[in-house]
Amino acid sequence: MKIIHKIDELKSEIETYRSDKKNIGFVPTMGALHEGHISLVQRCVQENDICIISIFVNPTQFNNSEDLAKYPRDLKQDSEMLEKAGCNLVFNPDPREIYTEAELSNTFNFDFEGLDQVMEGKFRPGHFNGVVQIVSKLFNLIQPQKAYFGEKDFQQLAIIHLMVTKLKMNTEIVDCQIIREQSGLAMSSRNARLTTEQRKNAAQISKVLFESRNFVLQSSPEELKNRVITQINNTPDLKVEYFEIVDSESLQPIVNTWKRKAIGCIAVFCGEVRLIDNVRLNP
Ligand code: PAF
Repeated sequence: MKIIHKIDELKSEIETYRSDKKNIGFVPTMGALHEGHISLVQRCVQENDICIISIFVNPTQFNNSEDLAKYPRDLKQDSEMLEKAGCNLVFNPDPREIYTEAELSNTFNFDFEGLDQVMEGKFRPGHFNGVVQIVSKLFNLIQPQKAYFGEKDFQQLAIIHLMVTKLKMNTEIVDCQIIREQSGLAMSSRNARLTTEQRKNAAQISKVLFESRNFVLQSSPEELKNRVITQINNTPDLKVEYFEIVDSESLQPIVNTWKRKAIGCIAVFCGEVRLIDNVRLNP
């Protein structure tokens, strides 16, 4: 497995793969890898000749400098996990390798056709511009046939699908299901920042979400939403930032009557750590 930090080296590797007619699969990450990432990598290895992973804590998608500073980083451990999973190449650039000074101040502006007005987009202004900025750059450099994203970041996934369609990119986006800890807690690099007690309490998030599926037929979306928020807020350490029931395609809120393809998306602070999760709510 090669670890590359420079764009020129990456380009020359890609040229070799292309001239050898290899299919390239790609998993973009910010490192601090866990089993959720590894499941994407394993799928990528299975479905392609070459599996490339990027590890880049993208500064332009953080709207909170403390969150950026505290984002866990461990290239050595990540590389060991990737090597075992069968990855061929890790691209781990420095921010200056990727961005000009102007780009670093996030002047990028993508038209999200409204997908960014709710949930993560509403609470993390500029976040999705940063995501599209980096993912489009990486896609342009690597030109993968397939790229793998987890459904935990459901809104991100919807936005990546929109990006590929609007920018007419030739990459197929593969949606991969959420991988959970045994307690049900959705795997996240941020879980590493939870204390043992917080981790126990954080398991309540998925528990309440899963239970809420039993109430779809007997409550309105608004009632269900309030029920979930109250139950989670009643758990020590947990404070809901938002819980929205939305249409899984338009991401527009479902308020009065249920629609097919409803999904409940949540962001919760567990102490200072912000966690997200989601559940399909099919009436
Ligand atoms: O989901 C993530 O880890 C990031 O948003 C991504 C897609 C790697 C872009 O920085």
